[in-house]
Amino acid sequence: MSSSRLVPPGRTAIGGLLLALLTSMVSGARADELTIGARADTTLYEERELSNGRGSYLFAGRTRNNLLRRALIAFDVERALPAGTVITGATLHLYASRTPGGPATVSVHRVNTAWGEGTSDAPGEEGVGAPATVGDATWSERRYREVAWQNAGGDFAPEARASTLIDAVGAYAFTSDRLKEDVQAWLDHPEQNFGWMLRAETEEETTARRFNSREFLGTTRPALTIQYEKPQGSVGACCSVDGGCGIRRDASSCEGTFRGIGTSCDPNECPPPVGACCAHDARATCEQRTESACNASGHMWRGPGVACDPNPCPVMLTPFVDPLPLPPVAKPIEQVDGVDHYRMSMVQLKQKLHRDLPPTTVWGYSDGSYAGYPGPTIEARVHETVRVTWVNDLRDEQGQLRKHHVLPVETCIHGVEDDTPRTVVHLHGAHVPAESDGQPDWTLVPGEETVYEYPNHQEAATLWYHDHAMGITRLNVYMGLAGLYLLRNPEEEKLGLPSGEYEVPLVIQDRSFAPDGSLRYAEELSEHFFGDTVLVNGKVWPYLEVKRGLYRFRVLNGSGSRTYTLKVPGAGLLTVVGSDGGLLPAPVKIASLTLAPGERAEFVVDFRRFLPGQQAVLQNVEEPADAAHLGSPDVMQFRILDEPGYTADVPEQLRARQDIPEDSARLSRDFVLAKSPSDCGGSAWLINGKGFHDITERPLLGTAEIWRFINRSGTLHSMHMHLVMFQVLDRQRFELDGDEVVPIGPRMPPRPEESGWKDTVQVGPFEMARVIARFTDYAGRYAYHCHILEHEDHEMMRQFETVTSLDARPDAGVGGIDAGPQALSPYKGGGCGCGVAPSRAPTELGWLLICALWLVRRSATRSRR
Ligand code: C2O
Ligand code: CU
Ligand code: CU
Repeated sequence: MSSSRLVPPGRTAIGGLLLALLTSMVSGARADELTIGARADTTLYEERELSNGRGSYLFAGRTRNNLLRRALIAFDVERALPAGTVITGATLHLYASRTPGGPATVSVHRVNTAWGEGTSDAPGEEGVGAPATVGDATWSERRYREVAWQNAGGDFAPEARASTLIDAVGAYAFTSDRLKEDVQAWLDHPEQNFGWMLRAETEEETTARRFNSREFLGTTRPALTIQYEKPQGSVGACCSVDGGCGIRRDASSCEGTFRGIGTSCDPNECPPPVGACCAHDARATCEQRTESACNASGHMWRGPGVACDPNPCPVMLTPFVDPLPLPPVAKPIEQVDGVDHYRMSMVQLKQKLHRDLPPTTVWGYSDGSYAGYPGPTIEARVHETVRVTWVNDLRDEQGQLRKHHVLPVETCIHGVEDDTPRTVVHLHGAHVPAESDGQPDWTLVPGEETVYEYPNHQEAATLWYHDHAMGITRLNVYMGLAGLYLLRNPEEEKLGLPSGEYEVPLVIQDRSFAPDGSLRYAEELSEHFFGDTVLVNGKVWPYLEVKRGLYRFRVLNGSGSRTYTLKVPGAGLLTVVGSDGGLLPAPVKIASLTLAPGERAEFVVDFRRFLPGQQAVLQNVEEPADAAHLGSPDVMQFRILDEPGYTADVPEQLRARQDIPEDSARLSRDFVLAKSPSDCGGSAWLINGKGFHDITERPLLGTAEIWRFINRSGTLHSMHMHLVMFQVLDRQRFELDGDEVVPIGPRMPPRPEESGWKDTVQVGPFEMARVIARFTDYAGRYAYHCHILEHEDHEMMRQFETVTSLDARPDAGVGGIDAGPQALSPYKGGGCGCGVAPSRAPTELGWLLICALWLVRRSATRSRR
């Protein structure tokens, strides 16, 4: 393709040195032409979260399905040539390796802002892209999960700098005076060098061109050939902070240390660079050192030129030094007519979350005798009403009711007017009247309280209470507002599963800390937040001493964004006995268990497999592609004691499940999960493109419905419905053909550990999941949402409204409307919703009969029309 030398791209400091070296040789010679490889290149896919940073190909144009692709490419001209050089010509060489459809013109545009190339690497022919990794440029972001483009699809100058007709496989050259001007401009102002974008966006149907990328194995990689005239006068070596050496005219054109006229980069005599060197400690100690000095001390080097202010070092905590705390059982303040009445206050307190951390300011719940994070565990029994007075008693250090949140509040997003620490408690998994469900917009400000009643007319299960305040749920839960609610059934207690000291709840949450012990959360609204340590029941990486026998763990993933795949290496298969909604029909043995935010599971581990004195570790073995890595797979440790434990076998049958037959569903609804640009920065996640106040689903009480969640994104969503427990029907992968969803492969049955009742379901990237639920007892509005709290807060939460009749207001199943703000008034009906039952009355047989008759009459009236 070109007879000039192809200089390898400078990916690392070493590559940069090599480039500088070659450059100095070139500038010393008579030759006034140089060819360099690309510094970065990637593809933007219109499907939004896809990229191909490390893939072998670049794409530009419109696919057969009418989806756009745009390629980005950048060259380090400022590293290759000394400042002062006069550029006399520039040619971009690209090799087209696939050219479907007719001829297409590819144009080159200057990019206006910095973008990133991550590690995404698409499979196969690469036309489908791969889920973006952190730092990748995607259609909506110039650095995935960090910074959005101003305009989706990339920020570039509209006028083409060069263009070429591409009609067949082969090598192509783009050359023009404008390209030459771009290279000159980048050389003179390296801070403006963001490279070029390749587009092929004519009226034509299929214009997609595929080019070999800089990662392509072979000689036909992108290259830039530059003709130039050497600068006038003498030059010298310029050392940059990262240890690189370049040739510059004088000190003023050197960003770094100019070593004097006549000095050279051959050999490179620049001093080895220093950079932040992090000690592995709880104080996040940072020192400036060279790489070799840092490595020799066993610390972690963060790269050349990286400063210690702001401190880039993480707080590193020693695992397994604190015993696992067990939240105490909450104490009621009174018992009236068999109803346990609790008074639970949300309070600010200081709590030790790790041996080496100063006490952390957290928000917990207090029952009057114990206050902490997680809150005290409420123990309840099936069919026995629990009443809770929830009190927002959040106070500052001076004891004054708080006016402001502890964490930065984003007021741009929906439902957030200021940073008042509003709270509202939702009992996750509970079947309750709407007025006790913790509606996200019925929040309490500090000093306010409310009384909720939980009838517990549902099956025994691991429920949890947590904050649900509109737009700040992620922050309130991060501060600590969560606790367990164990709903028990005396019948089930007779099954003989490990109980008492052998039944252990594990609330798993990720957090990050500042060296002073304070909780660290993202400064800006982001799509996910991943903490860098894992806490169980409020302690970082704790340990639990166990006897040699069986333990039943009730596990809750109470994290904001993180999904865990849990395993106890050495313990054999996990025996899963329960899911969100309580016991499974029968125990299920699986190698590992994946829990997305909001999900619960119960499993039994038999520690007889270990010897006294041994240790076992609960690990998070796999991280989803888009999660920030935790550095350590550990969740907590078990220390095996020399004492016999609980040894009765797990029963073969646990709790029969009554299937909701698929054909009993009154209707089936689709929910498209997709991202869309947001005025608040980043992007918002929407369900069917609608917001919280657009109520379009009105399930008829007494009927079953199938809900199908269609995930048109590269990110997992953890979809949760209030009021009901559902059954997972199936999942299916799909592809997008234009806007159309084209299923691929068979419908997959739910995983065995999902064979019980669920209230939260994982919907993987480009997957649809169907669930079936029966709506009963309570009329009113209830939230449904993604339980990734960063999504929930940024528009991925809507409401359905259960109704006793479809006459009054339309339903999306039969039309669908924007319900408007009047639909917001708190529902004050009650019982089964027929308007006769007092709102707080338990559903008694009498009421049920009245309501059932009433429903039958209503539906008869309907069907006669
Ligand atoms: Cu766990 Cu609507 O929440
Ligand atoms: Cu819930
Ligand atoms: Cu989500």
